[in-house]
Amino acid sequence: MRHIPAWFVACLAAVTASASAPSCSADSKCPEEYPCCYSGQCGVGTYCLGGCNPLESYSLDSCTPEPICKNQTYSFTNLDNAILYDQYLGNATEYDWVYSGYPKIKNETLWLTMPNGTTGSLFALNHYIWYGKVSARIKSSRTGGVVTGFILMSDDSDEIDYEWVGYNLTSVQTDFYFQGVQNYTNERNAAVTPNDTFADWHTYTIDWKPDVLEWIVDGTVMRTLTKNSTYNATSGVYMYPQTPSRLEMSIWPGGSEAEGLGTIEWAGGLIDWDSTDIKEYGYFYAQYKDITIECYDYPSGALVEGDRSYVYTSDSGLSNTIEVSGNDTVLYNLQDTGLNMTAGSKTTASNSESGSGSSSSSSSDSTGTGTGDSKNAGSRVVGSMSVAVAVAGVLSLL
Ligand SMILES: *[C@@H]1O[C@H](CO)[C@@H](O)[C@H](O)[C@H]1NC(C)=O
Ligand SMILES: *[C@@H]1O[C@H](CO)[C@@H](O)[C@H](O)[C@H]1NC(C)=O
Ligand SMILES: *[C@@H]1O[C@H](CO)[C@@H](O)[C@H](O)[C@H]1NC(C)=O
Ligand SMILES: *[C@@H]1O[C@H](CO)[C@@H](O)[C@H](O)[C@H]1NC(C)=O
Ligand SMILES: *[C@@H]1O[C@H](CO)[C@@H](O)[C@H](O)[C@H]1NC(C)=O
Ligand SMILES: *[C@@H]1O[C@H](CO)[C@@H](O)[C@H](O)[C@H]1NC(C)=O
Ligand SMILES: *[C@@H]1O[C@H](CO)[C@@H](O)[C@H](O)[C@H]1NC(C)=O
Ligand SMILES: *[C@@H]1O[C@H](CO)[C@@H](O)[C@H](O)[C@H]1NC(C)=O
Ligand SMILES: *[C@@H]1O[C@H](CO)[C@@H](O)[C@H](O)[C@H]1NC(C)=O
Ligand SMILES: *[C@@H]1O[C@H](CO)[C@@H](O)[C@H](O)[C@H]1NC(C)=O
Ligand SMILES: *[C@@H]1O[C@H](CO)[C@@H](O)[C@H](O)[C@H]1NC(C)=O
Repeated sequence: MRHIPAWFVACLAAVTASASAPSCSADSKCPEEYPCCYSGQCGVGTYCLGGCNPLESYSLDSCTPEPICKNQTYSFTNLDNAILYDQYLGNATEYDWVYSGYPKIKNETLWLTMPNGTTGSLFALNHYIWYGKVSARIKSSRTGGVVTGFILMSDDSDEIDYEWVGYNLTSVQTDFYFQGVQNYTNERNAAVTPNDTFADWHTYTIDWKPDVLEWIVDGTVMRTLTKNSTYNATSGVYMYPQTPSRLEMSIWPGGSEAEGLGTIEWAGGLIDWDSTDIKEYGYFYAQYKDITIECYDYPSGALVEGDRSYVYTSDSGLSNTIEVSGNDTVLYNLQDTGLNMTAGSKTTASNSESGSGSSSSSSSDSTGTGTGDSKNAGSRVVGSMSVAVAVAGVLSLL
């Protein structure tokens, strides 16, 4: 399932876009004044960081270079190394993670929560992985329509997924994409034993090598995909995930009325907001801990010119056109873009207010650090999202 939910894009549009900012696709790239294409919308600043698609942007260097892979195990005692996505300037050394929604730390575990009526949470690693082994212990959310994700996602939409749909706690779905091309036959269930993904900790691993990809649950290989098997003889291209990717963890409402019918059905129907978790805690939740990233060596023949970042050098988006560069990844401020990352005055994450007033007010309140109840902030954020969703809906009818 395409896991970047419509609502997340709508949120981003609501907080940072100018009304005149156009949409974008491979056939219709962004204009120079809003050069960065993020999930179909052109913009600056946040749009040029993680998730900015170089193949749909004004030029390949409109998006900022992608911070290089870092070997690391993450355990959570606080959220000090995470920042709200609309305040991040691209310094992965300063902040390992960006997030939206309502993450919390409980018992040294990261809880991604989805309070009643909200659109959930997203937690993404700022260091890209260009082949590597990624593992975490996870307890999924539960209840039909509630989806938990643990995926690798590249800026041109290569994707490697684990997804849990809350009506089925005896298995996890595995899936992959090449440049966002949807093919339902790529989706497979993997059984999980003991068979309650909500109640039991399990270790989920993605082992991604240039030639072979494995999904491993509790040390057992559940699925193997060879690069060879993805060959498309018509295009002469291996439709295999092959570009630097970020780890994204999420809980989101697949069973929300704002989603398409296909997504709602896949997720297990509309969400019952009066179910046990909402009554007991006030939110649905997924739990993550012991996240381990092991970076593999670059594929043989890789273009290595530095040791800081990855950049796209061709709009083929193929592995052999990715360059490891010495270029920096940090914008001076949230009006800057990859075209000139130091055009404006220099700000830091803590004093940067994104150009729009609404974004700073929602962001400062909804940090969800687990101490307070963020319901008020939540409803305000959701309020502006719903407007954006409604606007998007109207536009799509035109
Ligand atoms: C990124 O953050 C680190 C740690 O705070 C700091 O040392 C470094 O100077 C920053 N880099 C840039 C380009 O701002
Ligand atoms: C907290 O974590 C420890 C160690 O994983 C576990 O034994 C304990 O049951 C957890 N407590 C709660 C309330 O989840
Ligand atoms: C969950 O998925 C497994 C694997 O596809 C399937 O065998 C099982 O029937 C499903 N359970 C439910 C409740 O749909
Ligand atoms: C999906 O992938 C399968 C296996 O590679 C292939 O046979 C089929 O044609 C693909 N379908 C579409 C719609 O691309
Ligand atoms: C879960 O596993 C137990 C023990 O292996 C088995 O008895 C039970 O039928 C399984 N439940 C489901 C829903 O598969
Ligand atoms: C698959 O891999 C083998 C060797 O690893 C190679 O000889 C063969 O040409 C490959 N086939 C395709 C379709 O790439
Ligand atoms: C193979 O590539 C062609 C040309 O790009 C495309 O039309 C076709 O859908 C691809 N096949 C699969 C199975 O994705
Ligand atoms: C969740 O919100 C809906 C709409 O406001 C409300 O009808 C429902 O009772 C709430 N659920 C709980 C458990 O409070
Ligand atoms: C990460 O660790 C692996 C194995 O321990 C090592 O081979 C690799 O060079 C390291 N990569 C980076 C970027 O530190
Ligand atoms: C690195 O930055 C320099 C100076 O801004 C720029 O000219 C060059 O194109 C960049 N290289 C890459 C690979 O993006
Ligand atoms: C970026 O913009 C600044 C301020 O306008 C200018 O001084 C600098 O030369 C520009 N850098 C590049 C690489 O264009």
